[in-house]
Amino acid sequence: MVAPAPRAEPPPAAPPPEGPPLHPEALARFVDPLPIPRTLASEGARPDPSDASKRIPVYKVAMSEVVAKIHRDVPATRFWGYAGSFPGPTIEARTGQGVLVEWVNQLPARHFLPIDHTLCGAGKDRPDVRAVTHVHGAKASPENDGYPEDWTTPGRSSLFHYPNQQEAAGLWYHDHAMGIERLNQYAGLLGVYLIRDAAEDALDLPRAPYELPLVLCDRLFGQDGQLRYSTSGAPDAPWISEIYCDAHLVNGKLYPYLDVEPRQYRFRVVNASNSRFYDLSLSNGGTFHQIGTDQGLLPAPVALTTLTLAPAERADLLVDFGAARGQKILLKSQSFELMQFRVGTTTGARATKLPTKLRPVRKIPESAAVETRTLTLNEYHDPQAHRMLMLLNARRWHEPVTEKPELDSVEIWKLMNLTEDSHPIHLHLVRFQILDRQLFDADEYNTSGKLELVRAPMPPAPNEAGWKDTVRVDPGTITRIIVKFEGYTGRYVWHCHLLEHAANEMMRPFEVVARPGT
Ligand code: C2O
Ligand code: CU
Repeated sequence: MVAPAPRAEPPPAAPPPEGPPLHPEALARFVDPLPIPRTLASEGARPDPSDASKRIPVYKVAMSEVVAKIHRDVPATRFWGYAGSFPGPTIEARTGQGVLVEWVNQLPARHFLPIDHTLCGAGKDRPDVRAVTHVHGAKASPENDGYPEDWTTPGRSSLFHYPNQQEAAGLWYHDHAMGIERLNQYAGLLGVYLIRDAAEDALDLPRAPYELPLVLCDRLFGQDGQLRYSTSGAPDAPWISEIYCDAHLVNGKLYPYLDVEPRQYRFRVVNASNSRFYDLSLSNGGTFHQIGTDQGLLPAPVALTTLTLAPAERADLLVDFGAARGQKILLKSQSFELMQFRVGTTTGARATKLPTKLRPVRKIPESAAVETRTLTLNEYHDPQAHRMLMLLNARRWHEPVTEKPELDSVEIWKLMNLTEDSHPIHLHLVRFQILDRQLFDADEYNTSGKLELVRAPMPPAPNEAGWKDTVRVDPGTITRIIVKFEGYTGRYVWHCHLLEHAANEMMRPFEVVARPGT
């Protein structure tokens, strides 16, 4: 058994692999236009697996090595991308209209980032290059969800069916291959997946070119322009507990600019970093509005001047540049400058107004829950591996499934954080609501096992009071979520979305089971 330890020490600084590191702060800023990922076109139609009388669009997306410029003055970078780009193309779908996607693994036979073969599922007996795509936030059957062990090797492909039987929302797709997902995503295997519906159409929100995705992620580069991934310094066990990088990419560019008209824009923001939390604000201190969370529209716009987004969280934002004619405004995260908006003086189309109401979010009453589970988030020192081990409910990946909600039942999950880090916890398949966050004395609990609550529970902030699929569980809190397990029976995963944590082994299966008698 492993003994509880207070906190992961920051990993020892690794020797640079080769050559000097890139110092992004020394580069000229705002010299490259913001790339807008293209919308993926379908390759025709095929019979709908859930209704053979219908035909639905089929998309083909190859994963392959791509070469792209992150900045005018930096040599081109090798990434791994979907359909030839990083981020991958945007997939647009509509509620109730299913799509098929053939994810084709055309990656090279060797990985270019440091695999840790001591991690669960990444043993030397496995091929180095493995990939499986998960659409984060999709309600898909287990065979189509991208289970971490359902990876394929180069030369193979998987045809996945996404029925899109869910409300309009900004989802994203990314790699999920067991033991190496952090490397595959870091290499560039990620993109945006938007679902739209009639309720959203009725709102008169900005549309393309006034609606666009902003995919944020941080990376490390060498002066040669190539990606670097930090290591522990131990050649056989390079895993590190978190990676924080100094180059912040927006849609794959470093310090891009975007020419905007003095009008309202809609930004579909994704935090696609492995470990980094973003605290977004505008350099003029301006107010912007959040209209949607991970899983769709909020009841009403929420005015913000800063927005925290944990890895994998999304925000649907309205930013009005109408009062900023001729100005240059930066999008920042704390002191980091992410990108620049150059506000023009004329508008090409009728401006949209801030809606007052969006979509009602009916609260799931706590009385609907048939089960309440207390699930701890843990950090241990693993004496065998001489490093930290992160777990959910003190269980390892391969232990038998312990969370078996019944189909269509409602449960409350009390996520009790015994560590000193904030962990974004994601459940596949479902959407949920945050009930509250309750502070407790984690030191007391870790030493004596006594639960001492501190102060009253805090309700979610207004911009979190919608449908979520990823929730920030702060240190010393019990964060309660309420979930209806709808859609499918079968095996899914829930995990921390700090990808280094998920890899070691802050990820567990859960299984939705049929109701007895059905
Ligand atoms: Cu963003 Cu398990 O996924
Ligand atoms: Cu974590």
